[in-house]
Amino acid sequence: MTFARDPVYVVPEEEARSIESLTLKLAEQYNGPEDEELLRELPILAAELPVDQRRYLRSFALDDRLGYCVIRGLRVDDSRIGDTPPHWRDRPDPSPEFPEEILLLLHGALLGEPFAWRTQQDGRLVHDIFPIKGYETEQMGVGSTELLTLHTEDAFHPWRADFLLLGCLRNPRGIASIISDIDVDELDSAHVDILMQENFIIRPDDSHLAVNNIISESDGDMFSEIDRLKKDDVRVAVLWGDRNAPYIRIDPYFMEVPDDNPEAAEAFRAIEDLMERSVHDVALEPGDILVINNHRLAHGRRPFTASYDGRDRWLKRVSVTTDMRKSRAKRGAATARLI
Ligand SMILES: [Fe+2]
Repeated sequence: MTFARDPVYVVPEEEARSIESLTLKLAEQYNGPEDEELLRELPILAAELPVDQRRYLRSFALDDRLGYCVIRGLRVDDSRIGDTPPHWRDRPDPSPEFPEEILLLLHGALLGEPFAWRTQQDGRLVHDIFPIKGYETEQMGVGSTELLTLHTEDAFHPWRADFLLLGCLRNPRGIASIISDIDVDELDSAHVDILMQENFIIRPDDSHLAVNNIISESDGDMFSEIDRLKKDDVRVAVLWGDRNAPYIRIDPYFMEVPDDNPEAAEAFRAIEDLMERSVHDVALEPGDILVINNHRLAHGRRPFTASYDGRDRWLKRVSVTTDMRKSRAKRGAATARLI
């Protein structure tokens, strides 16, 4: 039996070349990352990835012990993908980096079903992460000069991703992602009890706001849903699952602890401190795919100064769910990917 123990899996060079040929070939056959035929075929196509790589990811997902892993050694053609764009809007479809988007989707299909939000990046399935002028100080993937504080992806949402995949297209200055995998044994047992109770409020982050998306009249409903989540007072637990190795759901920047609960406030400060103490850097290299177990690990990004010269750090992001049915009521069809 193979356990995924080392968080870095290095793809042998020969295999990386054949994976590159595969994604280049698929990019000729399909129309773009949202091509329904491509999405239907993904798990079948992913069976063409090397068996050791698939076995590693399978263990990573099933064992549920590592908070993250990095698939390293995959190839990115820097000249084909062109400059880091100034914005994710108004890009060609398919884009020059369609093979790299396919690569990310194939890895996603080994873990579950890729999905996205109608309220983020205009409903795109594969998101871009690069600095955008005017957004420098925002707590979003397109920000830069501020620390992107540790968070569970889409922590506010009951249907948030089970896995998050970040594919690195370029990162010449080695700007680090940050991750924090806490050891629950370092928390006071009374604090764990309180953190496992529904004492905490998480508001949607700003990337889901209408002001950051193109909004049409028919879209009004979904943003009013986000508005409702922003206002409403549903309380959730920060820790859940197995008490000895609990899952985590946290985004302190967008969270509130109700004033009437000083014990919850104290427990929350304790886990925030532990999270800060447990932080470490992962600087992605071109071709790296960082897979985050979104129930184990909070993540973020170090601050940096963008150059806006076409060479800025550029990642692609895909969210994956292991259960499409839970969001069926909010998706237009069984095969629809947008919530
Ligand atoms: Fe994130």
